[in-house]
Amino acid sequence: MSNTKSRKKIALIGAGNIGGELAALCAHRQLGDVVLFDIPGRVGVAKGKALDLEQNSAIAGNDAKITGTSDWADCAGSDVLIITAGIPRKPGQSRDDLVAINLPIIRDVADNAKKHCPDAFIIVISNPLDAMVYELMRRGGFDAKKVVGMAGVLDSARFSLFLAREANVSVKDVRAMVLGGHGDDMVPVMSACTINGVRAGELISKERIDAIITRTRKGGGEIVELMGTSAYYAPATSAVAMAESYLLDQKRLLPCAAYLTGEYGYKDLYMGVPVVLGAGGVEKIVELTLTDEEKTMLAKSAKSVQGIVDVVKKSA
Ligand SMILES: NC(=O)c1ccc[n+]([C@@H]2O[C@H](COP(=O)([O-])OP(=O)(O)OC[C@H]3O[C@@H](n4cnc5c(N)ncnc54)[C@H](O)[C@@H]3O)[C@@H](O)[C@H]2O)c1
Repeated sequence: MSNTKSRKKIALIGAGNIGGELAALCAHRQLGDVVLFDIPGRVGVAKGKALDLEQNSAIAGNDAKITGTSDWADCAGSDVLIITAGIPRKPGQSRDDLVAINLPIIRDVADNAKKHCPDAFIIVISNPLDAMVYELMRRGGFDAKKVVGMAGVLDSARFSLFLAREANVSVKDVRAMVLGGHGDDMVPVMSACTINGVRAGELISKERIDAIITRTRKGGGEIVELMGTSAYYAPATSAVAMAESYLLDQKRLLPCAAYLTGEYGYKDLYMGVPVVLGAGGVEKIVELTLTDEEKTMLAKSAKSVQGIVDVVKKSA
């Protein structure tokens, strides 16, 4: 019997709204075989989505296998794990309100990931993002280069879209980056923001840029208020861009929650920073020259993240 591993394997931990969309994107982009995992009480959803997507592949012409399971053993040997396990926000809730429910879930995921997928590249999406990715890495004792959080790609996408609409230009030409924690004090970096090299401030008034920054910071909440639950299309596409950069060694420079060991003046903290993602995982954390105002905003954001991480550490 051949033990040749022909395709990459991607395990999606949580088969809810984002998990299902992740599976669809992985299949569509032919990234590898997909395992959709959920708890036993939701295994029918995981299996049902997997079957629906395999039937979809029969039309789309994708050959990857998609399976649903509640058995961690089926995730063994995964190259990438993307974690959405937990609950999303409801209207009126902040991401930090989720910590009590999502913390034990992330610890359960960390223990199983360590046991079954010790070599995987791990992308955490569950909220509150920066604290959950910190805890997953700490609890599992993983190499921090192989564990990142997804938030900055999504927040930057929201920022880019609003800027493009305001300037009446293609979103493809907007280069914008949102750093810091995935909370209401995230840091849109105007000093690094251009529309294909043209400073955004030359095309959009300061007043409108300020309004766009406010809308970006509340971008997740705007969708929660509309739908009663959080966004899932753009979060899934964001995480798949990160997974693809790792799997295909694309070395994309993306804003990711990465473990800081002194970069930007912060230590033992996960927070959104520009990262080169390649086959080595976090291959480089890029330190931008920030303005004094941006440094102050980053310090405020880091303080908020540290507050939640302290709560998590105390209950360890
Ligand atoms: N980082 C970001 O930018 C971002 C963006 C949007 C949503 N989120 C977060 O992502 C998470 C998932 O959102 P969603 O809309 O997919 O939620 P969802 O409720 O649709 O799906 C979550 C799934 O996790 C499963 N689950 C619970 N405990 C589990 C465990 N121990 N192991 C495996 N699976 C488990 C649930 O049964 C459920 O099916 C939420 O915490 C949400 O706040 C983050």
